[in-house]
Amino acid sequence: MRLHLKTLAALNETHDGLILGIGANQCLNAAAAQLDESLDGAIARIVQQSGFEGKTGQILNIYQVPGIQAPWLILVGTGQQGELTPAQWVKMVQSAYKSAADLKLNTVVLGILDPSPQSLNPIEAFTLASRTLRECTYHFSTYKSQPVATHTPKDMTLVVQDKSLLTNFKQALHWTEAVAEGTALCRQLGNLPGNVCTPAYLSEQAQQLSKLSKKVKIKVLGEAQLEKMGAGAFMAVSRGSNEEGRLVLIEYRGAPNQKGTSVALIGKGITFDSGGISIKPAAGMDEMKFDMCGAATVMGVMRSLIRADLPLNVVGVLACAENMPSGNATRPGDIVSTLSGKTVEILNTDAEGRLVLCDALTYTQQQYHPDIMIDIATLTGACVVALGKVTSGLFSTDDALADELLEAGRLSQDHAWRLPLATDYQELLDSPAADMANIGGPTAGAITAACFLSRFVEGTRWAHLDIAGTAWLSGPKKGATGRPVPLLTEFLKRQIHA
Ligand code: BES
Ligand code: MN
Ligand code: ZN
Repeated sequence: MRLHLKTLAALNETHDGLILGIGANQCLNAAAAQLDESLDGAIARIVQQSGFEGKTGQILNIYQVPGIQAPWLILVGTGQQGELTPAQWVKMVQSAYKSAADLKLNTVVLGILDPSPQSLNPIEAFTLASRTLRECTYHFSTYKSQPVATHTPKDMTLVVQDKSLLTNFKQALHWTEAVAEGTALCRQLGNLPGNVCTPAYLSEQAQQLSKLSKKVKIKVLGEAQLEKMGAGAFMAVSRGSNEEGRLVLIEYRGAPNQKGTSVALIGKGITFDSGGISIKPAAGMDEMKFDMCGAATVMGVMRSLIRADLPLNVVGVLACAENMPSGNATRPGDIVSTLSGKTVEILNTDAEGRLVLCDALTYTQQQYHPDIMIDIATLTGACVVALGKVTSGLFSTDDALADELLEAGRLSQDHAWRLPLATDYQELLDSPAADMANIGGPTAGAITAACFLSRFVEGTRWAHLDIAGTAWLSGPKKGATGRPVPLLTEFLKRQIHA
């Protein structure tokens, strides 16, 4: 699908479909009103006679309206005037896309950009709308042996009311394409099954990224190197699997004149989490193929950075391993030494994410000395209990960094919610035998996991995103969401001027 931008004149061009926004109380949006004038009130009459209520996302398809070039006129509801929220905005755009796809239209003009939510400026709102359209086109059909019957329109043209914004919108569209490409990559990697998407597969995918730009370098550490350097926590997870674990490093130098690394992104890449010897129950265990969505997010963000050619130095770190039970697997009660030198008593082998991440955090600091470190992990079921599938859990010892991430979440409609990291929780990780245990008991599970990670951060600005709830959907819509690629790309874009 191609996305285009045009001025109001496009309303009178020939296309398969024309989509216009109608608010509550039969209020025509700017594009509809403009066209209505030249049609002697025909659109207003349709709205009135059909009793169209204009509820957010509501759809009315009308075939062949005299005077309108396109055979299909589609009305989409935009709700109460002045009350349109960003979430409703997304819903409205999704409905508009779906109606066009359901009617199998190929060329569609959308006069829906005005009104937009008051809490976003016109460019932010446009960016969100265009990204939403782009994301509607992703389907996971890699393993369907027969073609899937989903129609994707070929050309969608967004009508811009205010001509003076056209240049800004064109730039925004460029950014949208970059973010959407990264989000799609994240979803695709997440959706691939554990027998395909192994640590080796993820490292090959990283190699593919380096082919896109000279600014990208890839390094891969295998188990022999990790063992030798003393990454005992990482190895404790990976040793039970026949798949070799990997630490994958994606170095992007978009600002070669700036010294060092400004941001490091560290992703949990457990390509399947059986729980290990502390094995998980059978029901729903298949969803643990998504336990590498943190790593997929990092890969997606790096892809977006490359595509947008962002002038920043960012390193992506993927901590990739499979968590399996076997005769060689870690036992509950085993004590291991981490790369930092701190020792950990592994009381539950299912709390493996923090084990691969703690060594990845130490390695990242020693090797890159980044200004900011952000780890992204499907870390705890407790986070899903606390926040559901709506917001990602955000933890940080740095208030300014936390606020910037929350704001990036708001602008991209990829929300996070901050949870506490108070020192009072730290004692739950006490172990009589080692420096700490890898679990903190039945309460505050998302927080104790974050506390565990915080012990491996030495003076670097750091934040942790627990995406256990937001990285994928369950049930009939089961699949990776691509979150939090939009949040993180927005955050990085805003770092350029910071
Ligand atoms: N990958 C899981 C977390 C998870 C569970 C994400 C369910 C999404 C849905 C993680 O490795 C895990 O198993 N965590 C344990 C930790 C516990 C043993 C302290 C959990 O949350 O139950
Ligand atoms: Mn686990
Ligand atoms: Zn896990």
